[in-house]
This record gives sequence, C-alpha cells and structure tokens, in this order.
Amino acid sequence: KSLAPGQNRGPLLNFAPLTIKDATAAGGKTITISPDYEYQVLIPWGTPINPDSGIAPYEGDPGSRPTSAEQEQMIGIGHDGMWFFPSNLPDVLATEVRRGSELPAQARRRVLSSSSGMLCVNHEYGTNPHLLGKASPESLEDVRLSQAAHGVSVVAIGRDWRGKWDVVPSALSRRITGNTEVTFSGPVAGSPLLENPIGNTPQGTLNNCGSGPTPWGTYLTCEENFNGYFGSSDASIGGFDALQDEAYGRYGFSRFGFGYSWHVYDERFDLKNGNYANESNRFGWIVEIDPFDGAQTPVKRTALGRFKHEAAAVKELEDGRIAVYMGDDQRGDYCYKYESNEPWRKSIAAGMSPLDDGKLYVARFDQGSNGNDGQGTGVWIELTSANSAIANAGLDTQDKVLTYARLAADAVGATPMDRPEWSTIGKEGEVYWTLTNNDRKDDGQGELSEANPIFENTDGYIIATTDTSETTFTWNLFLLARNTRSPDDPKTAIDSQDLSFANYQAPADEGANVFTDPDAAFADPFGRLFIGTDGGQPDGLQDQLVVFDTNTGEYRRLLMGVNSDEITGLAPTPDFGTLFTNTQHPGDGDPKATNFPAKTDGVTIPRDATIVIRRKDGGIVGS
Ligand code: FEO
Ligand code: CA
Ligand code: CA
Ligand code: CA
Repeated sequence: KSLAPGQNRGPLLNFAPLTIKDATAAGGKTITISPDYEYQVLIPWGTPINPDSGIAPYEGDPGSRPTSAEQEQMIGIGHDGMWFFPSNLPDVLATEVRRGSELPAQARRRVLSSSSGMLCVNHEYGTNPHLLGKASPESLEDVRLSQAAHGVSVVAIGRDWRGKWDVVPSALSRRITGNTEVTFSGPVAGSPLLENPIGNTPQGTLNNCGSGPTPWGTYLTCEENFNGYFGSSDASIGGFDALQDEAYGRYGFSRFGFGYSWHVYDERFDLKNGNYANESNRFGWIVEIDPFDGAQTPVKRTALGRFKHEAAAVKELEDGRIAVYMGDDQRGDYCYKYESNEPWRKSIAAGMSPLDDGKLYVARFDQGSNGNDGQGTGVWIELTSANSAIANAGLDTQDKVLTYARLAADAVGATPMDRPEWSTIGKEGEVYWTLTNNDRKDDGQGELSEANPIFENTDGYIIATTDTSETTFTWNLFLLARNTRSPDDPKTAIDSQDLSFANYQAPADEGANVFTDPDAAFADPFGRLFIGTDGGQPDGLQDQLVVFDTNTGEYRRLLMGVNSDEITGLAPTPDFGTLFTNTQHPGDGDPKATNFPAKTDGVTIPRDATIVIRRKDGGIVGS
C-alpha cells in the first residue's frame, strides 16, 4: 500500500496537531494534548479499586508506601496494555448467540455501553526504588508489596452526567497479582514441565505488557519479561534439566535477574531451589481473564506458546476461526501467529476454548520476487514436534515445543526482527506490527534483512502483513520512523544499505510530527492507526501518541507524555468517543522529573495513570 505525501490530507484526521512548541512548553511536567482535545486522569497507581472499601488512596507521599494488603485492593503500578469492556457486553453477546450472528457493526457500536464498563489494565512493572522507595526488598512484606503491585486490575468505571469518568462500586472489580491462583489449559496443562517437586498450586501473572480482547468478551494479558523476577541463591542457576538450562540462556534468566531480589525472601523465585525447579516455566504465557466473572481463575493458554509476549491481536477469520498475532519483544526475536482449529462460536458453545486447540506458527519474511523494494512474501512455519528440525533440537513432544517456543522457532529459520512490540488488526484485516528499535545487530542481536533494513535501527518501524493463506503472507514496510526526522537532521539519512523505500514518502511537514520508537498500536475500524511511543524522541519531545490515516499515510501528534514515561495501552469505548491510554513509569519514579498526576512540587512520587481522551466537540477520537 503506497503512502501519499503528508500534505495530502485524508478525511480521517481533522484535528489540529499538538505542535512541538506547545508540547515542549510544559517542560515534560504534565501531559499535553491537541487543542481540539481534552483529557482527564483516571486510576493512578494507589487508587482503591472499590471506592467503598475505606482504604485510603496512595497519592505519592515519598515517605510512605501502601502495605501489601492495601496494595492488593489498589490499582497497581506500570500501567500498560488495557481494554474497556462495556457493562452490557455479556447481554449483547448472549443476544448475538441467540441470533446466530453478530449485530451489524454500527448497531453494535450504538447498543454497547460507552459510559460504563470494566476496564482491564496491565501492571507491567515497577522498579524497587520507585515502588518500595529502596534499592532492594528488606523483608517478605516488601516482596509481597512488589508482587501485589504487579499483575492486572479489573475495575468498574463509569462516566457521570458531566462527562467525568471515575471508579464505581462493583462486585466484579478485582486485582490479579503475582500471587493470585491461576490455572493452565491447552497442550502443556498437566505436563511435568509445569509441576514442581513441592507440588505448589500455580500462582500469579507477571510483567503484563500488551493485551488484546477476544470476540467472546474476555481479556488476554501478555507476560513479557518474566525472566527478570527470578534470581539465584547460588552463583549458578538451574542445573535440574539440560533442556531447561539451555532455555534459561535463550530466555535470559540470570543470577540477579532485573534486581528485584524477590528470591531472597520468596524461594518460589529462586532458580536454584529444587523444590521449585519448574516454577519459571509457569511464566511467559498469555493469560485469559473474564472481566465479568469476579471469581474466575485466570487461565494460562499454553497453545499460544511461551515467549516474551508483547500483545495479542485476535482476528476473526472468514470461516469463523480465529487467528492471534503475537510479537516476542527482544532484539532478534520473532513474530508468531496462533490459529484455532474450529470456529470460535462452535468451541464456546461446546464449552471449549478456541485458544486451547490450534496451531502455533512463527514468521519467516522473504524478499519476494522484486528484490529490495520494501515488500515481500512470507511463510508461517508451524511449530510442531512432528517437524524433524524441531524434534532434533530436543523438542520431541509438543509440551516442550510450546514451553520452549523460542528454541523451536530457532530450529526452523524464523526471521529475527528488530524487537516486535504490539500487533493490531487494520480495517481490511491487515496486521500492523511495531518493531520498536534494535541498534545492536553489530553485537549479534538480530540480523539485517529486507524486513529489518536498517543496521543501526535506533528509531524503529512498522511492518504490515496480510495473510494470503493459513501458512503464507505478504508484507510491506508501512513506515520507517527514522526517516520522519527533519531533513536538516543529519540522522535523517538511512544507512547506506542500498535499499529502496518505494512504499515510503516522508511527510512534507518538515518534522512537525516526528516520532520514533513505535510500541503500542491500535487500529480502529475506520482506517486510523494509533501509535504510542517508547523511546527517546527527537526535538525535545517526550513519548507521544500519534494517529495515522492508513489510507493516505498522513499522521498527526495527538498527545505527548511527561518526562521519561511511555505512552501505551490504547482502548476505545464502543462509540469511539473516548480513548483510554496510559502514561507508564512517568519520570521513572523520580519526583525531580515530574510529579504527575500531582501538581509540580518536586517531591511527590510520580504515578502511572490512565489518561482519558475525548474530542472537545464529542466526535470520534482520532478525527
Ligand atoms: Fe513491555 Fe516490549 O514492552
Ligand atoms: Ca522485496
Ligand atoms: Ca511495549
Ligand atoms: Ca517498549
């Protein structure tokens, strides 16, 4: 799909972009937004999920922190992927089951509530200094506080007559944390790979990054950098199983992890404790949560494979089956797809999950017939122990293939990518993948290829893929973010790899809408693509939210975050009049950088928060 020059304004984007001047005037202390828009702050870290609980909110006092018991009843830290589930969604789905088909899109948008519902929010991470106010935990209580601040919030919210959103009382609101009981389903459930000698019940979800809603009304939350929570009481790690030891290297487990030091007080996270020899295998999955069943045990869907899951974009296929597109966010890692074997309505009606019975694929991006032209063909390679290359790598049963999916993908020649972050489904069924950056190919992390055409890829790009069959696809470079820099910027030049970028024409706005490091992505059904960024932005900008017209390639800056945050989690109401997004790790927890959402005082700890965006005239967000 060719992109037209930026001055060729399409009908989808009609708002005045947030200018660099207006964005940077706030000094990164607070959120800035297009003059055609307004925002409010919702559910910052420390908000009680039940307003009637009597628990005092934590509002960023640097001298105190919630107790772990309080935190278990509060919004967590590190807001990331999320989704809004309209309060009447179960009724509408039941009506559709009776009809035997989905309501027409417009009728569905009208009938679903856009003023009340359940918001599911991932709490990806919070460093010890930010969360605990100290470099390392000093007690089991410190560890429990950290674990309670991770996971997912399922919280009832509503919009009052003035248009203000707030948390409302509901028996459905709950916190799912690093200690909540969970269960496994699919091909690896019951495998010895998920059992520990001590026989402990599976607990917790961690590093919940991107997300995705399912057509049947549930929430998929994706476990990303789970390796970082484990550490070792010994100089070595593992030593219980040779295949697991190999996988420890491939998945980046190490003696100190990311420095959380949970293992010092909670032996479940000690990679040298034989009682918990397989505890680490219990993380790295996609987890299904029912927002309308407060008693549901979250289910880890093992058929979708175990890797550093970024997001899960679920698409309904023409025959009623589903495909789930999933990135594995690491330099040089892969894009994956799951396809169900049966139509989802048939499985759900039979009391089965469409996520338990299907095939897992990994992507190989080929050049196609025209050489280096920024597009090509691709193959979805099935990850199965029936493939001799996979079996010969020691993965001779499907539970091993899925648990060590990275090793299986390595064995079949998948294409290393420049950090696949979010995936999202466009209006024609095309999939947009954000490849956020990778400037370490010289270090052996990732490889130059036509689909990853910049060696020192500091700024990222977006690839679009379209399946041409269950096992084949076409792809094109939708946007090379680096080329969006001002023509005067010496970094504009693409490294001389003798590549042509036929699909790309730089917007003719001289950099007024520059952005880099695409991460969060959401495509609306009208052809808009919302991109949240995560990485050093040019021209004094902070991370931002930009909106594309995918028909024309034009894009505009809608919102800019605060110092050291990232903008992520993109969830609309059914009428598209409201968009929820998140500022994650504002100021990296440093009150000198920002005190958001508190007023600037240089002292109050900045807190992750949801930002509720609306057009001032009540129109569709992004227009
Ligand atoms: Fe959690 Fe890859 O971002
Ligand atoms: Ca090509
Ligand atoms: Ca991300
Ligand atoms: Ca990122």
